[in-house]
Amino acid sequence: MPLSNDPAPSLAEAAERLAPALIALRRDLHAHPELGFEERRTAGIVAAELARLGIPHRTGVGRTGVVGEIRGARPGPVLAIRADMDALPIEEETGLPFASTIPGRMHACGHDIHTATLLGVAAVLSGMADQLAGTVRLIFQPAEELLEGAEAMIADGAAEGIDMALGFHNMPDMPVGSLGFVRGAALAASDRFDITLQGKSGHAAHPYAAIDPIIAAAQLITQLQTVVSREQKPTHPCVVTVGMVQGGSTYNIIPERVALKGTVRTLHREAREVAEAAIRRLCEGIAAGLRVGVELSYRRMVPSLVNDPALLERAVASLAAQFDTPPLEREPSMGAEDFSAFADRVPSFHLLVGSGAPGREDRLHNARYQPDEGCIAQGVQALCRIAVDLLR
Ligand code: NI
Repeated sequence: MPLSNDPAPSLAEAAERLAPALIALRRDLHAHPELGFEERRTAGIVAAELARLGIPHRTGVGRTGVVGEIRGARPGPVLAIRADMDALPIEEETGLPFASTIPGRMHACGHDIHTATLLGVAAVLSGMADQLAGTVRLIFQPAEELLEGAEAMIADGAAEGIDMALGFHNMPDMPVGSLGFVRGAALAASDRFDITLQGKSGHAAHPYAAIDPIIAAAQLITQLQTVVSREQKPTHPCVVTVGMVQGGSTYNIIPERVALKGTVRTLHREAREVAEAAIRRLCEGIAAGLRVGVELSYRRMVPSLVNDPALLERAVASLAAQFDTPPLEREPSMGAEDFSAFADRVPSFHLLVGSGAPGREDRLHNARYQPDEGCIAQGVQALCRIAVDLLR
């Protein structure tokens, strides 16, 4: 069932008319999930659909990304709309007839939904190009789950010349048909740390003759929580999680070293600085106090995703005019999303699209996640309405 860009009397009807083809497309993507930077089949399908719609595009942007461009009849700003395409290393347990055919791979974050949605947007807006003042750049991004795809595409020029950007995500904790937004910082900055505590191995009965990295690791892990409780302003959210501890082998040996891995999430720039500085200081303190060697590698992955206030007000007004139910204001999340790489460069708005159905698994990254596919047409309609209003 090919996508069509024949004009429809309204955006709602255009989205509704496309829905069956978009759902079929989504199910095909769902059955063939691909991990970050491996989205070759997915990118091929995207490129083929754009070609059918007569939309000029480039492939291989940021390795496996695709960029299409719809030029309006009149000059105006360049609006980027971005969807992510990658799947997760999860064994699917939905039992759906279109479940993943690839062992250990699943579209458990709904990026198949996002890809289909942006193709729907492409179909609708390419059929309305004569009404647009400006350009719509369609960004099909790889490797969001690795938090590397956006930067890879930007390095290949995907963000060149853009004036503003729209991103979106399906939200299973919001009922299908609803839309949402977050004022200000919507998603957290995500950083990663690797810490190695180097001791001196020895007999467990003679700790004075060794240097115990396990005691040092235990103290450091508890001290790291004081970054949140004693160093940050209580009005600045921060999460420090140690997700991996590795060291030692048996009852009676003090090991040579312990390795830790963890993540830091913050919403405010200032909090991010405070956290990194504090973690560096605590590592130095443990080294001095407990005689261990401490090696810290601290990597800033993505900045927090901050919605532009003016663009947000315009988008929310468009949604309120388009739909009977106004969009819901939501709380920020300490999750991260690399759309923030675009939002860090140009005014951006991140739309939340309800995908939840009663009784269904409502967590992303879950082996039984089943979004309600009604969210595709809803997303198409919402994004098109915002785009049309921004490029009037
Ligand atoms: Ni996602």
